[in-house]
Amino acid sequence: MGMSRITYGLAWASCIGPSAAAWPQDVDVNSFVSTERGIALAGALANIGPNGTQVPGAHAGLVVASPSMTDPNYFYTWTRDAALTMKMIVDEILFGKTELTPYIEDYITAQAVLQTVSNPSGPLLPSGLGLGEPKYNVDGTKFNGNWGRPQRDGPALRAIAIITYSNHLLQSGETQRVKDVVWPVLQNDLSYTGQYWNSTTFDLWEEVNGESFFTTLNQYRALVEGSKLASTLGVQCVGCDQAPQILCLLQTYWNGRYLTANKNPDGSPIRSGVDANTMLASLSVFDVSASCDSPTFQPCHSQSLASFKYFVDTFRNPSLYPINAGLPNTSGVALGRYPEDTYYSGNPWYLITLGAAEFLYDAIAQWTAAKSITVDSTSLSFFQDLLPSIKVGTYKQCKKTDPFRKILTAAAHYADSFVSVAQNYTPSTGALSEQFLKTPPGTPTSARDLTWSYAAFITMAERRAGQYPPSWVPSPSPSLPSTCSPGSTKGVYAPATAAGAPNVTVGCTSTVLFAVNASTYYGENVYLVGNTSDLGNWDVENALPLVSSNYTSERPLWFLPASLTAGTAVGYKYARQEDCGQPWILESVNRTVQVPACVEGDDSVRASTDDAWTGSVGQHGNC
Ligand SMILES: *[C@@H]1O[C@H](CO)[C@@H](O)[C@H](O)[C@H]1NC(C)=O
Ligand SMILES: *[C@@H]1O[C@H](CO)[C@@H](O)[C@H](O)[C@H]1NC(C)=O
Ligand SMILES: *[C@@H]1O[C@H](CO)[C@@H](O)[C@H](O)[C@H]1NC(C)=O
Ligand SMILES: *[C@@H]1O[C@H](CO)[C@@H](O)[C@H](O)[C@H]1NC(C)=O
Ligand SMILES: *[C@@H]1O[C@H](CO)[C@@H](O)[C@H](O)[C@H]1NC(C)=O
Ligand SMILES: *[C@@H]1O[C@H](CO)[C@@H](O)[C@H](O)[C@H]1NC(C)=O
Ligand SMILES: *[C@@H]1O[C@H](CO)[C@@H](O)[C@H](O)[C@H]1NC(C)=O
Ligand SMILES: *[C@@H]1O[C@H](CO)[C@@H](O)[C@H](O)[C@H]1NC(C)=O
Repeated sequence: MGMSRITYGLAWASCIGPSAAAWPQDVDVNSFVSTERGIALAGALANIGPNGTQVPGAHAGLVVASPSMTDPNYFYTWTRDAALTMKMIVDEILFGKTELTPYIEDYITAQAVLQTVSNPSGPLLPSGLGLGEPKYNVDGTKFNGNWGRPQRDGPALRAIAIITYSNHLLQSGETQRVKDVVWPVLQNDLSYTGQYWNSTTFDLWEEVNGESFFTTLNQYRALVEGSKLASTLGVQCVGCDQAPQILCLLQTYWNGRYLTANKNPDGSPIRSGVDANTMLASLSVFDVSASCDSPTFQPCHSQSLASFKYFVDTFRNPSLYPINAGLPNTSGVALGRYPEDTYYSGNPWYLITLGAAEFLYDAIAQWTAAKSITVDSTSLSFFQDLLPSIKVGTYKQCKKTDPFRKILTAAAHYADSFVSVAQNYTPSTGALSEQFLKTPPGTPTSARDLTWSYAAFITMAERRAGQYPPSWVPSPSPSLPSTCSPGSTKGVYAPATAAGAPNVTVGCTSTVLFAVNASTYYGENVYLVGNTSDLGNWDVENALPLVSSNYTSERPLWFLPASLTAGTAVGYKYARQEDCGQPWILESVNRTVQVPACVEGDDSVRASTDDAWTGSVGQHGNC
């Protein structure tokens, strides 16, 4: 990287209200950011249907994760990536790019329709289960493959993006349209959040099932903002009453040293729990006006800062990331998802390395707004990297001895150094893939043109330029319940027909639990296929994946609760496959199950099978 040239902002010379963007900025980073910001926006838009040049066939308003169709195949729309991208687009509209309005309008229509698409997580009606589905095909049809589902951050993130846009519409006097057209879409997502926040979820990396900090924090924000919008519209938000208990659960992720990203319901951490999850969560709830001790874990919160340092230092280890060898503690480094990562051998990600810069710009903005920095014993080691002599205390802007100014100058430089790292591994075209190799020369790898990488670049550039999204954190800070309790509010779900959803109705269905004992080898999955459209009409390519979470050597159980048309006889069988081009193996027998009569509003299991795999077994494909 070499030595960087520094420019000093105007406010630097005076004590009067510097804007955060007026802290020193690295000149080499300035020119990279200004060029790359345009490339990143074009790159994100090229991945959005119907006009996106990289994603022919994508439906209007569907954000495709990447144009890559093989190794890896990311040619799908993920609820999470799409919502984070749309939040960026809404913020860009607020910052003046009003020409982007058709993207969010298309998105709202597309999501209203998608909410009604029955999928392997379930249907919309009666209980909202289908809203937890993580991804769909780019034509808006369900994805049937084996996957980590449900993922309960999706509805919350989608609500946050659409609420930000709704608040903007309210300011333009479109209250009636928000109430009649947009609110029904939001009410489904807020219902889901209020009903299922206290159930386990797959995390944002889609790998582990448990409690996830990223999910919990975004759920809290969605319900707080949903509740406020509902009262403005004069409607009731079903589910928003759960917000205080979600905030209570959120406080339990701190382990004394860092925020544990993922944990089991019994409190035990999943892996080390050191994960970009927590930093990314703080980014998505950033509010420049929020207080640093807000229980919403803003970037400037002591525990967020301590976690940030712990996370970043983990990747300074050159045996984990050879590419970071020799970089001093005062410099940014390449960052990945979590130290145990093995996906594509576990490399740095652009969106995380850039996210570290954004995190620091956010904190700088908050300290600047507060005109004060508090260093406590939790955050001391974070601050010592910026100013080794710093002690626990509160430092006000413009005091003679001015540690405030020294810390912010060092933090601004530190933030820029993360951008500089990403710059070093960005090809001259400016294209951002998902990852770059952890070994020199840090060649880009995994999915090309990742929409989320581009969105992350833009949100980083916004913060660096002093552009902040609208505030949302309640003031004064909400008080926490004295004890945390489990909770759930039964949601209300209805197709958002005014926004374009088809008027789906509660079919007369009953839930059948399919359970089969089938010994499989690692990497092999079991599926269900049958003679109804829900079960793929005997087309094994549309078979439903079974779940192996209760599989043990004593009981090799694969199971799936499926909602089927009541009162019918259904023909079915199981199939197995290793998901890497190995051939399908179908059972040699045909089975039948009788679906019981329906009970309105009841989607609990009403019948179960007890099957044992019958037929030949699979060969390990070594893939
Ligand atoms: C897609 O192109 C059509 C035709 O030019 C245009 O009307 C529409 O606004 C475009 N959609 C977006 C999201 O830009
Ligand atoms: C449900 O909430 C209780 C109380 O906060 C908590 O102890 C438990 O871990 C939560 N479980 C999940 C899965 O969120
Ligand atoms: C860098 O940080 C690590 C971890 O906090 C610490 O052990 C090491 O002494 C620091 N190195 C320098 C040169 O300050
Ligand atoms: C949707 O269908 C239900 C039940 O058939 C009906 O009551 C309702 O009026 C329909 N809504 C619209 C917008 O057509
Ligand atoms: C799987 O295990 C969980 C936890 O023990 C249990 O609650 C659930 O009923 C099991 N599911 C099936 C289908 O056996
Ligand atoms: C599906 O298979 C079952 C069992 O063979 C049969 O009773 C039923 O009529 C079939 N349904 C259809 C729609 O073919
Ligand atoms: C038995 O299963 C096969 C699919 O493996 C299907 O094509 C066939 O129609 C089924 N037979 C009956 C009688 O359901
Ligand atoms: C499946 O395994 C369980 C546990 O060993 C056993 O109780 C059950 O009878 C088995 N089912 C069949 C159909 O073999």
